[in-house]
Amino acid sequence: MSAQPCRFIALNSALEVLVYQTSKDASASAAARIASLIRSKPSATLGLATGSTPIAVYQELVRMHRLEGLSFSNITSYNLDEYYPISPLNDQSYRWFMHQNLFQHIDIPANQAHVLDGTVPAHAASEHADQFDRWIEQAGGLDLQLLGIGRNGHVGFNEPFEASLIDACDLPTRLIELHPVTIADAAPAFHGSQNVPTHALTVGTRQILKARQILILAFGKNKADAVAASLQGLAESEVPASLLQTVADRVVWFLDEDSAAGLKV
Ligand code: PGA
Repeated sequence: MSAQPCRFIALNSALEVLVYQTSKDASASAAARIASLIRSKPSATLGLATGSTPIAVYQELVRMHRLEGLSFSNITSYNLDEYYPISPLNDQSYRWFMHQNLFQHIDIPANQAHVLDGTVPAHAASEHADQFDRWIEQAGGLDLQLLGIGRNGHVGFNEPFEASLIDACDLPTRLIELHPVTIADAAPAFHGSQNVPTHALTVGTRQILKARQILILAFGKNKADAVAASLQGLAESEVPASLLQTVADRVVWFLDEDSAAGLKV
């Protein structure tokens, strides 16, 4: 059984913000929600995330697959983003990350686990991104989107930028230029910022915000400002995770004490 949150923060009646003592407890709780969806809808469509944040969620899902018979055989998944350009053989690619942390350990068929292709030629990137959106739409949209958050408030690689709220909430899957904060955060993994790809493919806010459940996880002190701005600042394109306020009744935030430290209750 997963740990109970130590605090439930009611920022407004629609928002569920769960604060756990440890990121491990929060991850187990998020994994339990994903497992519950899969048990009630074995053919669910999942939007999956990468980065350090969801690793313990995937470990828990793998444990449930091995020990509790949780099956992914009818699940279809769409990953949020991928560096561009990047080979799937590069151990910093998100295709590689998903293989290492989840796909190779569970029974999801390879042709049901979609990751944007970091090798697509530049002239075909836009058609590839459009196709990804069409596949998600043909699948009936995402039943559940798992998200992390960047220090700059990004979700997926929807980076901060200036736009009207309406435009910011309706971005398609597309090729984007990475934000300097994102490049700085990725630099250690790539052995220097000069090796970080300058661009990425990302699922847009249009599909993310339409997901029927959105689980967003943030852990550690370095996420506290982005969490506070997303939950208690204005909903605006400069803080992409704040756009989740527009669909607050479908969003659950899973925090640890450190990432919740900036919230004013
Ligand atoms: P992290 O990245 O999980 O590695 O902190 C999260 C994100 O940038 O969305």
